[in-house]
Amino acid sequence: MHRARHRLQSDVVLETTVLVNRMMMKRPLLLLLLLQLVLENQALRHSNSYYYQDLSPDGKGNEEIYFSGVRLHVESPQTMVSAVQGGNVTLPCVYRYEPEVSSPRRTRVKWLWQPNTGETKELHVMVAFGSRHRSYGDFQGRVRLRRSAPGDASLVIDQLQNDDTGRYRCEIIDGLEDESITVELQFRGVVFPYYSPVGRYQFNFQEAKEACEQQAACLATFEQLYEAWDEEKLDWCNAGWLADGTAQYPVSVPRDACGGTEMAPGVRSYGMRDKSIDRFDVFCFTSSIRGEVYFLQHKLRLNFSEAVEECAQDGAQIAKVGQLYAAWRFAGLDQCDAGWVADGSVRYPITKPRANCGPLEPGVRSFGFLPHHLKFGVYCHKVRW
Ligand SMILES: *[C@@H]1O[C@H](CO)[C@@H](O)[C@H](O)[C@H]1NC(C)=O
Ligand SMILES: *[C@@H]1O[C@H](CO)[C@@H](O)[C@H](O)[C@H]1NC(C)=O
Repeated sequence: MHRARHRLQSDVVLETTVLVNRMMMKRPLLLLLLLQLVLENQALRHSNSYYYQDLSPDGKGNEEIYFSGVRLHVESPQTMVSAVQGGNVTLPCVYRYEPEVSSPRRTRVKWLWQPNTGETKELHVMVAFGSRHRSYGDFQGRVRLRRSAPGDASLVIDQLQNDDTGRYRCEIIDGLEDESITVELQFRGVVFPYYSPVGRYQFNFQEAKEACEQQAACLATFEQLYEAWDEEKLDWCNAGWLADGTAQYPVSVPRDACGGTEMAPGVRSYGMRDKSIDRFDVFCFTSSIRGEVYFLQHKLRLNFSEAVEECAQDGAQIAKVGQLYAAWRFAGLDQCDAGWVADGSVRYPITKPRANCGPLEPGVRSFGFLPHHLKFGVYCHKVRW
C-alpha cells in the first residue's frame, strides 16, 4: 500500500482537503483555484501546528484518497516567565491532538535551552518518552515534567541558579513530525543603588562590579534599572554604573537638586563612560532568595565586630546588602530595628510603612556607613541548602 506523509499548514487546509477530495475528479480547474486559495491563505498565516496524514488509495485503481488527518497543537500560555533565584519555576507547554486521538500516542517531549551567556548552540535540559526520562548537566535532579493533565509537558525547575536564565524550547515529537514553542526565563529581582564606604562617586567600572558582587548582587542592566524606575518609582539622584558601561540615574520626581525641573521624569544617562578613569556610584541587581535573612534577637546591642561574631555563633553570617534587599522584596522582611550588615552600613527593611519607621514608602532604610564601635542590632543570613 502506498503511504505518503504530507506536512501541511494552517487550519484552512483540513477544511478544504475534504472538499477537494469530493470534487477532485470532476472539477480540476476549481481544484486548482482552491489550492491557490489555500496557499495564499497559508502565506498570510503563522500557525504553530501541523497536520500529518496517511494517504491510502484503496488499491483498486480508484483515484479516491482517504484522509485521516490528525493535527498536533503545541502551546504555551506564557512566552515569558520570571522567577527568583533559589526559587522554583514552571515553564508552561501543553500539547493536544485534533481531532482527539482515541489510542495513546508515543509522544516524545524534549526540553532544550539557549543560555543568556551568548551561547548559540541549544543544550539539552531533559528528554522524556513515556515514563522514561533523562535530564542533563546542571539540571540533573532539578527538573521534571509537571504532567498535571494529559498533554501537560510543562517543565518544573527547582532551586533556580544564577545562570539558568535563557530561552527554553519545548519540542513535542510524534513519529517523524515535531513542533515546538519557546519560553523565555528571566529573573525577577530588585535594583538598589550602592556607593563606597569612602564616599560618593568613588568607583571605576571594575570596582563597581566588584562592589555589587561583594554584596551578593551583580551590575544592573539598563532594562533592570528602567523597570525599577517604571514600576517601583526608583528615584536616585546620583549617577551609577550599569553593566553596559554607561552611567545613569532614575528620577521620578524632577527637582532642582536633581538635574532641574525642566526635564521629564525618566532614566537620565551620562552615556558611555571611560571604565578606568570615570568614577560613579553603582546600581546593583539581586534576585537571590537562597537562604534566609533575619534580625538576630540578642539581649545586647552590638558593635560591628560583635555583630559579625554573633551571626557566626548562630550558625549564620552577617547579611550582605543584596541579601537584605532580596529578603525585603521577596520574603516580605519587615523589621523596624536598625542593624549592622556586612559592608559596615546600618539598615533596616520596611514593607509596611508606619510611624517611626522612616518614610511613607516601603524600602530598605539606610543610615549609611557608621563608625564600627557604635552599637546596633544585626541582620544575619543563613543558607538552607
Ligand atoms: C521548590 O520545590 C520543592 C519541591 O520540589 C519544595 O520543597 C520547595 O519548598 C520549593 N521552593 C520554593 C521556594 O517554592
Ligand atoms: C567591640 O566590643 C568588643 C568588646 O566586647 C571590643 O573588644 C571590640 O574592640 C569592639 N569593636 C569595635 C570595632 O569597637
